[in-house]
Amino acid sequence: MCGIVGIVGKEPVAGQIVEALRRLEYRGYDSAGVATLENGRLDRRRAEGKLRNLEVKLSQAPLSGIVGIGHTRWATHGKPNETNAHPHATDRLAVVHNGIIENFRELKAALEAKGIRFETETDTEVVAQLVTYEMRQGRPPIEAVAVTLPRLRGAFALGFLFAGEDDLMIGARHGAPLAIGYGDGETYLGSDALALAPFTDEIAYLEDGDWAILRHRSVDIRDERGQPVQRPRHKILSGSFLADKGNYRHFMAKEIHEQPEVVGRTLAHYVNFASGRVELPFELPFDFKDLKRVSISACGTAYLAGLVSKYWFERLARVPVEIDVASEFRYREAPMEPGGLALFVSQSGETADTLASLRYAGAEGQHTVSVVNVPTSTMARESAVIAPTLAGVEVGVASTKAFTCQLTVLLCLAIAAGRARGTLTAEEEKTLVDALIGVPGLMSEAMKREHQIEILAREISKAKDVLYLGRGTSYPLALEGALKLKEISYIHAEGYAAGELKHGPIALIDETMPVIVIAPHDGVFEKTVSNMQEVAARGGRIVLITDEKGALETGLETMATIVMPSAHPVVAPIVHSVPIQLLAYHTAVFMGKDVDQPRNLAKSVTVE
Ligand code: G6P
Repeated sequence: MCGIVGIVGKEPVAGQIVEALRRLEYRGYDSAGVATLENGRLDRRRAEGKLRNLEVKLSQAPLSGIVGIGHTRWATHGKPNETNAHPHATDRLAVVHNGIIENFRELKAALEAKGIRFETETDTEVVAQLVTYEMRQGRPPIEAVAVTLPRLRGAFALGFLFAGEDDLMIGARHGAPLAIGYGDGETYLGSDALALAPFTDEIAYLEDGDWAILRHRSVDIRDERGQPVQRPRHKILSGSFLADKGNYRHFMAKEIHEQPEVVGRTLAHYVNFASGRVELPFELPFDFKDLKRVSISACGTAYLAGLVSKYWFERLARVPVEIDVASEFRYREAPMEPGGLALFVSQSGETADTLASLRYAGAEGQHTVSVVNVPTSTMARESAVIAPTLAGVEVGVASTKAFTCQLTVLLCLAIAAGRARGTLTAEEEKTLVDALIGVPGLMSEAMKREHQIEILAREISKAKDVLYLGRGTSYPLALEGALKLKEISYIHAEGYAAGELKHGPIALIDETMPVIVIAPHDGVFEKTVSNMQEVAARGGRIVLITDEKGALETGLETMATIVMPSAHPVVAPIVHSVPIQLLAYHTAVFMGKDVDQPRNLAKSVTVE
């Protein structure tokens, strides 16, 4: 799972490639590399770690080729060191790769049996060696790639350059996204449109099995049978849509603080403020009232947004919901009655497991609806209906504003479903919509607790383990709180349903482990308070995140109580997301961690 870029250019391209890689760093940042062709001669620079290490190398030893490929890596096969960094090269070619070649062991064994020696631990080198082998048998580059591609199994995207071929680059897509850009006497390859945005506003997306031959003045696209095909060209927003940090220290801080605005923007897309009704900005090819079930799949934070919405769909629309993490759903061969609704939630719209689940559900005759943030993504293109979140570009690896925008869209869908199914009266809908309209203001109010949370974060940073508890819609939030904290601070954290405490985790409670309880004053508040009593009775240190009424009623001594503004219980999870994000953020900052690019993670996970 990595980012790839290629330019068949008119001037030295290494600088532009690095610029494009910066826009692709969300896909991985374990190592990076560039290869260019100058007068037919291939040369490359690679560096372990972040892109700036590569920039240092390039400044010491520049590359001046006008045709080039680049790569930013999230390691799957082989350590993230320089040897394993892309581009991989032989004397004949250089290749960059995103994805996994699943049958690389057998291919490698076959090549080794022919006496070919490998330098790296990667699956990618097999591709380089296979194509090189075919070229040594006398095949020209295009033919060598054509005979190699059908031998590769897995989900991948590839970009090739060839020694002696200053007017040739080949890209191939099999399961992992790849876009072609058209310029003035230049052509481009990129993992997404964002990478290519500074160079061109004209993009075509390769379809699965497609491969493309790029030259300065032409792009020849072929399908998996080798037949020439045309893929539609799209106009994208040109110029720079790479966000900057503004006055913030980190993208994550900026994105947390942007939430009132982007949740408001998303809301305005789904709600008629004047009538107090949800008005979906798209047609649905089914009627909610005919649904017997909703199936939701997603990964990571997006999955947790889906989990919150299970409570909403079941309570407000009385429709059963099943939800899975997509990596399980895609393989569990779930029977699905045709005509059901399958919902997918994804910031990037590229997550490999979620995409595979979408395809499975489509093949099972489901109506596919994707809640996505990137409108040009593969999921957006492959779903029957796109329910966009309008969070804007999210750069921080730990998702924040995309999460609360996902919640906003999912709640609007649940309300629309409730109205259609007759389980919500017009008055109830208006109450909920009014509550939703109030959310951006309540989120701004919640931000005012930041200083208190910053001080608390110093205490949390001393912990080895942290437990998060919640009930009802606060249970997925407890999971999200724990996920946020562990992914950016590397403190071990677990989220639990508060009622499950006594079935195991209570054994861990002592005076060193903070227990963060998310408990707005809702229908299950008293039950959660009982669970807090159990923690207090065992000397546990409680951090209570609640609202004004909840704070008045607990009567328990806590390590800290963070008081949120009162919100309607249905929208409370959106408001209560703010303190859990801020707590994770400040803990990680206090500990000096790389908040925007935590170790081992990537923003978009395009391998399974
Ligand atoms: C990665 C990111 C998470 C994200 C998850 C799903 O793990 O670090 O923040 O929630 O992928 O990504 P998606 O783009 O499908 O929402």
